[in-house]
Amino acid sequence: MTALRSFLFVPGDSERKLAKAGDLPADALILDLEDSVSQANLPTARKMTRAYLHAHQDRARQQLWVRINPLDTSFALEDLAAVVGGSPDGIVLPKTYSAAEAVRLDHYLSALEAREGIALGKVGILVVATETARSLFTLDSFIGATPRLYGMTWGAEDLAAALMAGTNRTPAGAYEDVYRLARSLCLAACRAAGVEPVDSVYPDFRDLAGLEAEALQGRKTGFTGKIAIHPDQVAPINRAFSPTAEELAHARRVVAAFAAGVGTVSLDGKMLDMPHLKQARHLLERAERLPSP
Ligand code: COA
Ligand code: MG
Repeated sequence: MTALRSFLFVPGDSERKLAKAGDLPADALILDLEDSVSQANLPTARKMTRAYLHAHQDRARQQLWVRINPLDTSFALEDLAAVVGGSPDGIVLPKTYSAAEAVRLDHYLSALEAREGIALGKVGILVVATETARSLFTLDSFIGATPRLYGMTWGAEDLAAALMAGTNRTPAGAYEDVYRLARSLCLAACRAAGVEPVDSVYPDFRDLAGLEAEALQGRKTGFTGKIAIHPDQVAPINRAFSPTAEELAHARRVVAAFAAGVGTVSLDGKMLDMPHLKQARHLLERAERLPSP
């Protein structure tokens, strides 16, 4: 599967933003039916989202995902019934408690794919895995839960609400410990499940330097992509999640240094062993799977 660097949220009821989104360099859009849409506008948003999916069937450059409402609301099934016919690349599932909901979504999708004549299993799932208090104790349930799982992301805003916290930031602006824990658990759970870890939004969309620093830190930590909320955030995210020419050159030198089949070597005065070789191979492999710039 193509590795997606940037996912851009687009409110599903905004004609203006939908019109703009297709020309942006986001690897994927997330057409939103959840928190950025009011309940009164939800029926309109479903129609507009379905129309957008139908009108944009060529997804080679940009995938189209849809965030539905949580499965424990009365809106989720209608959201799905409205949009699956447009063959979305995937569904973003918010506010989960455990993998049980991802499995339930898998079954719903199978039924709807059959109804719509879409290949079984085509629609993927991206779970927003840390938006409820309970979710922090069940992240390992996603291991092997459903082959539809593309990846998982995490959320600090809804988690703060779930924890009845007044804020999720320290006075200096960093995340409080429990949100850093949620982020780390999400990353580890993704790697354990063999799916893509996608970093959360950077809400201050006017601070592009801060966004790029967070995105770079995210990639170095192991995330493979990040979610954007504003057009200006897309290019910095794409940049941050593409390895640089220097990184690629270094990775090639590391692989070459091990070519003789030895277990440990020295390169530029540093000891390298198997973990370094694995990291270098992983970086090169991932670079091959990135969309061309
Ligand atoms: N997708 C597509 N286009 C967007 C966009 C988005 N997410 N956010 C802004 N734009 C467009 C605006 O419509 C505007 O274009 P226009 O001048 O042709 O109307 C242009 O980009 C510049 O926008 P700007 O004026 O800087 O921002 P704004 O005040 O209009 O919007 C937000 C700010 C945060 C409300 C908006 O970016 C947004 O809706 N983001 C997504 C929110 C969301 O989905 N949240 C749920 C997940 S957390
Ligand atoms: Mg939310």
